Amino acid sequence: MDISTPFVFATCRAGSEPVMKCDVALHQGKLLRPAFMRPQFITWKSDELLGGSYNLDCIYARVSGLSLGMCRTHEEVLQKLTPFLGTTFHLHVFPRETPEDGVTMEKWADVDQVREHLMVLMDAQGIKTQPMNARPKNGDWVIDVMLGEKDEPIMLGAHQHAPGRHPIAGALPRLQLPEEAPSRAWLKLEQALAFSGWSDDTLSGRSVVELGCAPGGATLALLQHGMKVIGVDTAPMDAFVLENPQFKHLRMSAGALSESFLPDRVDMLVSDMNLAPPVALHYLDRIQKRVRASRMIITLKMNDEEMEARIHESLKQLRRFAPHPMRVTQLAANRREICVVAGS
Ligand SMILES: C[S@@+](CC[C@H](N)C(=O)[O-])C[C@H]1O[C@@H](n2cnc3c(N)ncnc32)[C@H](O)[C@@H]1O
Repeated sequence: MDISTPFVFATCRAGSEPVMKCDVALHQGKLLRPAFMRPQFITWKSDELLGGSYNLDCIYARVSGLSLGMCRTHEEVLQKLTPFLGTTFHLHVFPRETPEDGVTMEKWADVDQVREHLMVLMDAQGIKTQPMNARPKNGDWVIDVMLGEKDEPIMLGAHQHAPGRHPIAGALPRLQLPEEAPSRAWLKLEQALAFSGWSDDTLSGRSVVELGCAPGGATLALLQHGMKVIGVDTAPMDAFVLENPQFKHLRMSAGALSESFLPDRVDMLVSDMNLAPPVALHYLDRIQKRVRASRMIITLKMNDEEMEARIHESLKQLRRFAPHPMRVTQLAANRREICVVAGS
């Protein structure tokens, strides 16, 4: 399969468009110039032709790839996929605009109808696609069909799967916050796990130190995966989480956490402290020296433009002590923050 185009697209969280544009200008400004912008979607034009393995590699881009342009009809989508005839690709159909609290089931039903219709048209032409929930392997082609509001054209893109790219359509796992979850952080943790690709059997029975655990949304998710959690926070925990025998609350600041409170080793270090990244990283570095976790899920808060501007500096600092590989993204449930998943 050979395709090349000078156009690149990326989707992002609502509100992250300006910071994504700046980040791309900073790191790829010599190659790419902004071409087109819609809410949660930007395209750029390159001075050279790019192939499917081109990686925009921007921490704010949820999905990125080659832009194949706009389509008014499903038939036009098919026409543009002619170069992919003979390739069994993954068909990822997803909404371009996504609310912070997740895409509703009604919206997904509409999206799935479009996918089904595209599949019927493809079937008729003998175009083969991978099963809907199959995870792309490195090198696999993914066709990104991004749906706007009713009268808007469809945005079409394509990328080749690679390490660090989200395996799920639109980087949007279909998760609903359960009623018993004490906070939205349940969603963030579940989305981070979906991004990590770590299977459940590598979580169950393992130990976690969680910094900034109150009121306990993420703790609940970790416990539901069968993990044993030591949570650190000065704030109170939700009563339902607190009574779980696999949970221990150290009601103190991460700064006051001396070695004697921690086991020699834990499997995972999780952090969601609302602290500026340099402070949070200082604590994490010290705690990691003790517990030597082989996996991490770290939320870095960027509450102002200064922290946003310094985020690559913070990531460099984290790279010095985080397990490999380290992958960075802005999850669908993240606000002005990013998520780092480290370890294999
Ligand atoms: C966004 S909330 C965490 C939400 C939590 N992860 C959940 O799942 O519900 C941020 C938390 O960081 C905690 N925090 C801030 N500074 C901290 C510190 N130095 N040590 C421990 N926790 C801290 C706050 O008390 C607050 O509960």
